[in-house]
Amino acid sequence: MNIHTFKNEKELNEAGAGIITGLVQMQPSAVLGLATGGTPVGIYEELVKAHKKGHVSFKKVTTFNLDEYVGVPENHPESYHTYMKQHLFDHIDLPADHANIPDGNAASLEEECLRYNRELEKAKQIDLQLLGIGHNGHIGFNEPDHSLVSGTHVVKLKPETRSANARYFASIDEVPTHALTMGVGTILKAKSILLVVRGADKADIIHRALTGPIQTELPATLLQTHPNLVVLLDADAGRLFV
Ligand code: PGA
Repeated sequence: MNIHTFKNEKELNEAGAGIITGLVQMQPSAVLGLATGGTPVGIYEELVKAHKKGHVSFKKVTTFNLDEYVGVPENHPESYHTYMKQHLFDHIDLPADHANIPDGNAASLEEECLRYNRELEKAKQIDLQLLGIGHNGHIGFNEPDHSLVSGTHVVKLKPETRSANARYFASIDEVPTHALTMGVGTILKAKSILLVVRGADKADIIHRALTGPIQTELPATLLQTHPNLVVLLDADAGRLFV
């Protein structure tokens, strides 16, 4: 496990984007696993800058997003489809049909999970999975539980996850109750994982995730088993690592 702590957000964002850019330069048809939420925004900004400067092209890249809310229309401002367009896809040259995001409005969610798994299998392996962590230790939307699911599945969001995401909605009642998420098996199958964590409010959970006993009640602890995990922390999130 490689843990890097950065003294400011700019350096962290540049480092994160640099790892992704470097991979795509070396391997133009790389398969990227992408995340949403507050954490990756600055990294996406740097990727867009690198693309606009002509340093990287995503024409041959394929992407798979970790998750999507159930029942939020694709063009809703808070859907992860919209998020990805706003922060990344509208500003780079990734062909639209190379971007995969689970459809949280599919007529059959079970069938949609199977379809997403099939697409992932066709792509064979995610080369780099970008990940954040929830305050309760979730990865993707794999919430703490007595057991975890390997493949893409429907998940009921925990109250703490809904409250954390309420900042994006008019009220907590508008935050979706369910989501589709890649499972932990798929996440762990990625060739490399880039875990990014920011803020003092995540210092304790990231320390427990990377140093505590491996348990499904803290899904991010499973990342300890990954042979190629790179962790980027800002100074606040990294304060318990000395
Ligand atoms: P955040 O979410 O980046 O908005 O903090 C991370 C997560 O829930 O995985």
